[in-house]
Amino acid sequence: MLEAETEAGDYWKKCGDEALAQNVKGIIMMGAHWACLNDKIEVATNPNPGKSPCPFVTPSLYKDWVPNPDLATANRCISMLKAERFNVSPNPTFDWIHDTFLVLIKMFPDFTKCPPVTIISMNARYDPWYHVKVGATLRPLRKEKYLLIGTGGAVHNLYRNNWIDMLLYRESLGQERPPESWALDFRQATEDVVTQNRGPALRKAMIRLMQHPAYREAQATDDHWMPALFAAGAAGDWEDEADPNVLAAETWELVNMCNSQFTFGSYRTGIHKVKEGQDRKEKILRPRMVGIAA
Ligand SMILES: [Fe+2]
Repeated sequence: MLEAETEAGDYWKKCGDEALAQNVKGIIMMGAHWACLNDKIEVATNPNPGKSPCPFVTPSLYKDWVPNPDLATANRCISMLKAERFNVSPNPTFDWIHDTFLVLIKMFPDFTKCPPVTIISMNARYDPWYHVKVGATLRPLRKEKYLLIGTGGAVHNLYRNNWIDMLLYRESLGQERPPESWALDFRQATEDVVTQNRGPALRKAMIRLMQHPAYREAQATDDHWMPALFAAGAAGDWEDEADPNVLAAETWELVNMCNSQFTFGSYRTGIHKVKEGQDRKEKILRPRMVGIAA
């Protein structure tokens, strides 16, 4: 999916175009491939990050694309997370991983157009409430024209994928037989939870999905689920009840892997009551949450 032309990739491009049209100030991402031990969390502050290689993806697709790290926002995120008592620190040597840069390349093929990007780690204890709180802590940045993205996987169990076509033919999208029932069940549960819940109910329902009977088959490890909880934290305030959450695109591959693209919230103009009896029309940007991708 990270290399081929897919519905998911087309949607990322659309999200990138929309972000540019909305003139977003920056992008804040949590991927599924970087986690810190004990109670730590880190924010990338490498001014010239390299890009770690991605298995099965042709290097020419990413080698000339230059990252645009946002050190000022990284330090701001660190301050915000510290204020909420997270054990957070900068990481000045972190190289970007394909969970973030390959999504950004699809969104902004011309790297000179990519807004500044801040990357935040997960915590390797994979506590769902912790990751919701990280998103909730950074949520105010959405109102300052930041786009927040969690990139992981809705159904992502590498042990249960069928790798034969990939290994023999470098092809993953054939789907010559249907996905297994646990994959279909969890994919459907995820869609239902996202589209039928808003605000704090979304946060709770996303956490509750970890108790779904098919969760452990759909997620062999918790790492690809945490970014969705980060996104739900960032879009799960009472104020977010006004906005629908949608499943916008989807790509199955390797028989059992489902890459669902969810958007929480929307860009819109809102009317907020600031004083009793006095309405003030106010431009409020609610950047998109592109959930669960790489
Ligand atoms: Fe991944």
